[in-house]
Amino acid sequence: MDTAQSIDALRHGVRQARHDGRRIAFVPTMGNLHAGHLALVARAREVADYTVVSIFVNPFQFGEGEDFLTYPRTVEADCVQLEQSGVDLLFLPEAEAIYPEGPARCTRIEVPELGDVLCGAFRPTFFRGVATVVGILFNAVAPDVALFGEKDYQQLILIRRMVRDLKMAIEVLGVPTIRERDGLAMSSRNRYLSEAQRRAAPSLYLTLCELRDTLRRGAPDRASVEAAGIKTLQARGLRPDYLVVRRAVDLGLPQADDKDVRILAAAWLGRARLIDNIAV
Ligand code: PAF
Repeated sequence: MDTAQSIDALRHGVRQARHDGRRIAFVPTMGNLHAGHLALVARAREVADYTVVSIFVNPFQFGEGEDFLTYPRTVEADCVQLEQSGVDLLFLPEAEAIYPEGPARCTRIEVPELGDVLCGAFRPTFFRGVATVVGILFNAVAPDVALFGEKDYQQLILIRRMVRDLKMAIEVLGVPTIRERDGLAMSSRNRYLSEAQRRAAPSLYLTLCELRDTLRRGAPDRASVEAAGIKTLQARGLRPDYLVVRRAVDLGLPQADDKDVRILAAAWLGRARLIDNIAV
């Protein structure tokens, strides 16, 4: 596995691969890799023949008072895992390579509407930070295909919208969520959970599964399912930010004839903010 720290070195590696006729896949990450990230890499290697992974804890997507400084950084262990997974090129930039004059002075990308709802309503600058860094990384790598986890479902469809609107010639693939044996979606932030909180955490997914079954049986109406979901999460010791039923393609309110519907939720357990979603 080669490692590049500068944009020039990254472009050099990718140019060479392209010259050799290889199809380029890209997996952006913030490191602290787990089986969810490795599933993205495995899928990347199935759909392309040169895989680039980035590790960059993007300061621009953390709001004030959020966990930028304490976000887990495990670069050495990450490198071992990526090497063993057959990654071709790791991009490991310092913040100056991405934001030479700092994030505040960088040209930014906003995705209206999709970036303002659900997680965007609770973390108002989050999706601007995500779209901006992913836009920069997409320009630097210029991949044929990029892979994102379905756990961050809103992020996945927001990136798809950005690619569509900015006419980027990149295919965006979603990869199903990888879960612990008890159903908890894998996430770097799960390590913030105490033992007791970790035992309670799978109840987020359990609640989503129960609501999905209720909807499949023909639930009375969306609003009552959402209200019941919020109550259940609270009764199970979580502090929900939201739990909603939305159209999968654009997170709009589902109409009677919409077939592709998802339930999405975010809830706090101690200092861990868990997010998850499920297809109905
Ligand atoms: O999902 C993540 O890890 C991040 O939001 C991403 C896409 C790497 C951008 O920093």
